[in-house]
Amino acid sequence: MAHPPAPELAPRKTPSSELPTAPMNIILGVTASIAAYKAADIASKLTKQDRSVHVVMTAGATHFITPLTLQTLSRHPVTTNIFDEKVSWHPGHIELADNADLILIAPATADIIAKLAHGFADDALTSIVLASEAPLLLAPAMNGKMWLHPATAANVAILKQRGADFIGPEKGMLACGYEGIGRLWPVDEIVAKALEYKKR
Ligand SMILES: Cc1cc2nc3c(=O)[nH]c(=O)nc-3n(C[C@H](O)[C@H](O)[C@H](O)COP(=O)(O)O)c2cc1C
Repeated sequence: MAHPPAPELAPRKTPSSELPTAPMNIILGVTASIAAYKAADIASKLTKQDRSVHVVMTAGATHFITPLTLQTLSRHPVTTNIFDEKVSWHPGHIELADNADLILIAPATADIIAKLAHGFADDALTSIVLASEAPLLLAPAMNGKMWLHPATAANVAILKQRGADFIGPEKGMLACGYEGIGRLWPVDEIVAKALEYKKR
């Protein structure tokens, strides 16, 4: 006669709330601001919160922080060149765009804000934003006069009207020596804001 399994050997049923779900994919765009080093902390903190972080850097951003640092902290390859297609027939930037649940650009330069407002697609980051339906969150950092310039204000208004979210900038001592608005918003608050977005 077969014995019923001892209770401690019976397979444990996983409550549906504990079933593993695919992680949320966040594209972290990093642009050529003096605040780019702070993207390392953002990548690390989002990764520790079980977000799947895919860093995309502009060419200029690589003058401020290395792809290797961001690759190590995000635990994923970093995209720096749209033409660097070695893995599959499917363009990598389109795959990233399709799978993104959020595109966070931190820090966002005046230049990337202008390009995105006008639909440019001349590098990996701008092409991904144009090819994606994911929400867009920008954390600007720049000289105060650049932020207050009517051209930047108009570009920000265009992006907001299209549904993009902005966090910052804040006032304080700027790296360029001026005191005023233009500093990247505190990293912990950028991370907290990014964590509010849900998987699409
Ligand atoms: C030392 C240094 C710091 C800079 N910091 C900023 C910055 O914080 N914000 C900004 O909008 N541009 C900044 N710039 C200018 C940008 O690097 C420049 O506009 C660049 O073309 C932006 O490229 P990207 O938007 O493709 O990354 C800085 C330039 C230098 C040399």
